[in-house]
Amino acid sequence: MIQAENLTKRFGRLTAVDRLNLSIPRGEIFGLLGPNGAGKTTTIRMLTTLAKITEGRAMIHGFDVSRAPIQVKRVIGVAPQGLNLEIELTAEENLEYHGRLHRMPRRERRRRISELLRFSDLEAKRKVPVDRFSGGMKRRLLIARALMHRPRILFLDEPTVGLDPQIRRKIWGLIEELKSQGITVLLTTHYIEEAEALCEKVGILRKGKLIALDSPARLKENVGAYAVECNNKNGCEIHFCRTREEAVAYAGRLQIDVTIRHTNLEDVFLQLTGEKIHE
Ligand SMILES: Nc1ncnc2c1ncn2[C@@H]1O[C@H](COP(=O)(O)OP(=O)(O)OP(=O)(O)O)[C@@H](O)[C@H]1O
Ligand SMILES: [Mg+2]
Repeated sequence: MIQAENLTKRFGRLTAVDRLNLSIPRGEIFGLLGPNGAGKTTTIRMLTTLAKITEGRAMIHGFDVSRAPIQVKRVIGVAPQGLNLEIELTAEENLEYHGRLHRMPRRERRRRISELLRFSDLEAKRKVPVDRFSGGMKRRLLIARALMHRPRILFLDEPTVGLDPQIRRKIWGLIEELKSQGITVLLTTHYIEEAEALCEKVGILRKGKLIALDSPARLKENVGAYAVECNNKNGCEIHFCRTREEAVAYAGRLQIDVTIRHTNLEDVFLQLTGEKIHE
């Protein structure tokens, strides 16, 4: 469904995306996780025909992104990181405009607009100009708009950035519903919980390179599913164990105050890189 082979993007001397290999099957929710500047947006921009591929290639639904951009555009929906809605237009008008760009017939546009306003819980905002929307409403409309022409593959660049936890969960719910419709989703995030909650597979990106690629559970198991966190004078040290029993035994040998918890993807990133995702 989504395939990348040695996908590379250079901006002058900077290699923003460095020989990325991905293979995402139909219906999967895949997350690209990484800190600011890791190359997430650049990857999405290449996969969605918006940025020229420097080297390597990408296939979307069997179409080569560089050779068949028009076919690719027909089967994908994109919700970019920067909100690019028409803020003077209403929710309905934004969807209508997108439907026309995709040459959807009038009746189909009407039906789809109602469906999507219901889906995104924006029915009450149908006639309201977008500049009066909250951040969460705008994000939801952005996703609805990306779905307007019934794409098979959806790209969501930071779908919940800057939103409070409650709204974030609402958007997670929308994304999960797409999966049940057989839509493939590639999303980017630098929220650990988001990748863990939503994604069946996660690619961890750092300085343009994919440094890990697996399910969140497997990534964590590889490090050790349990973390023993010791809060000593030198700051926090973490020791990873495979099982809870091991963790308890390890903690028992220490004569200090410790916390035993599940390992998370932040720990995985730290183990792989020696750095935190959020500095
Ligand atoms: N048009 C451009 N020209 C030059 N450099 C660019 C351009 N676009 C991105 N970059 C650089 O490429 C690198 C990757 O940027 P990108 O926006 O893909 O990161 P990101 O992972 O999406 O980060 P964020 O989490 O902040 O959105 C950064 O160093 C960025 O400065
Ligand atoms: Mg980005």
